[in-house]
Amino acid sequence: MSSTVLHTIILAAGKGTRMNSKLPKVLQPLAGKPLLGHVLDTAKSLNSTVHVVYGHGAEAVQSAFASDDINWVLQAEQNGTGHAVQVAIPFVKNDEDTVVVLYGDVPLIQKETLDHLIEEAKTGLAILTVEAQDPSGYGRIVRDGKGFAEKIVEHKDANFVELAIKEINSGILAGNAGLLRNCLSALKNENAQAEFYLTDVVELAVAQGVSVKAVLAESEAEVAGVNDKIQLAGVENSYRQRKAEDLMRRGATLADPTRIDIRGHVEVGQDVYIDVNVVLKGNIKLDDNVVIGPNCVIIESQVEQGAIIKANSILEYSHVGPRSTVGPYARLRPETFLGSEVKVGNFVEVKKSTLAKGAKVSHLTYIGDAQIGADVNIGAGTVTCNYDGVNKYKTVIKKDSFIGSGTMLVAPVEIGEGSTIAAGSVITKDTPASELTIARAKQKTIPGWKRPEKKPKD
Ligand code: UD1
Ligand code: CA
Repeated sequence: MSSTVLHTIILAAGKGTRMNSKLPKVLQPLAGKPLLGHVLDTAKSLNSTVHVVYGHGAEAVQSAFASDDINWVLQAEQNGTGHAVQVAIPFVKNDEDTVVVLYGDVPLIQKETLDHLIEEAKTGLAILTVEAQDPSGYGRIVRDGKGFAEKIVEHKDANFVELAIKEINSGILAGNAGLLRNCLSALKNENAQAEFYLTDVVELAVAQGVSVKAVLAESEAEVAGVNDKIQLAGVENSYRQRKAEDLMRRGATLADPTRIDIRGHVEVGQDVYIDVNVVLKGNIKLDDNVVIGPNCVIIESQVEQGAIIKANSILEYSHVGPRSTVGPYARLRPETFLGSEVKVGNFVEVKKSTLAKGAKVSHLTYIGDAQIGADVNIGAGTVTCNYDGVNKYKTVIKKDSFIGSGTMLVAPVEIGEGSTIAAGSVITKDTPASELTIARAKQKTIPGWKRPEKKPKD
């Protein structure tokens, strides 16, 4: 049994000038999470020891990942990618270990690709390459007669023949720690940029008789780097596409896979249907046969089987029970819990409330800090008056009650089981079960009353 360790060294010291932003490049958000966060997640999925080489925006970058288990390695001056790995390699103690080099601004790299690269690196060194439509600016891969990588030539150092090569260096590589340590110590900065190039380790390894594998990545998108906001939008697009395809593979039907935004982890059951312009953020669970209408925003919520979320609804930290319907134009704020077959209709806002089985709130209503029993029917324009300007209070409506339209429920208040509240009531006291309660001024007619007349102008 070998007890070697896998290390990832993530290069994240660069400034990212072209972002034109106060936020360091590796903290720019992709699907709501910093670029570096995506790379860290992938590094963790490899069960590796993570070293991050940082420099620019040091404080912001470190504090954004304060709770992560990271060995932070300061590269005070950015003297090239080879120099960046040189400052980190002393933290890899065992020469038998394996090292993977990743980049804080190459966020879409997949675990599976890296697993394969690590496997190929058993010869000593493997580099991840890709066939580029436009190779300009990238390091070109020069292969030998047997297909092994011979060297990488940077664009600025390449001759005509080399410039015509379409296979480019992604920058990502995996190799034996001892070999890398050895090659890194031999790097020179005699090149067009006077930098220590990580890419030169290929030629140095070959000189030691190592067969360097060049592994082609599946797509350019997977190894795309982000230097400006245009490329940031590009990776966002690729990310969205990847997530959409993933959902479809798991059985969801998407009205248009180019018009869904998934910024988190979504679990779907079978036969889920998602209409256009839906935004899904955080951890979301959509059970079998759930239907999400157009323009819905769903954040950290669970929707149980057969429930329907109609157009333009917003759900945050909420739970929708089986066969319930929500919307159109409904808003479920945090800590809303709907049981089964609940109906929350248009222009209804619910906050921190529980609605039991079969409860209906069909139109124009605010329900906050409330506990609503089974089969309660709440009429249009009802408001739970939960706030006195300082404190919040609870409204309890027992099962089978009927709340007439336009009722103000001044909390704390409890509506007894099976009771009926007349429309337009202002309820300030608890009501008895099974009775009709009316709390409004009696209607009266003033006979002979005349409308005021317009005064003549003088
Ligand atoms: C590098 C590769 C090139 C490859 C390309 C892919 C080298 C010499 N060249 O070129 O073959 O095609 O990536 O995008 O490696 N960084 C540091 N410290 C440094 C220098 C860089 O942390 O001293 C980080 C940067 O923040 C950046 C990454 O390493 O995230 C790549 O550096 P960059 O200077 O952009 O390399 P390229 O010239 O693009
Ligand atoms: Ca670059």
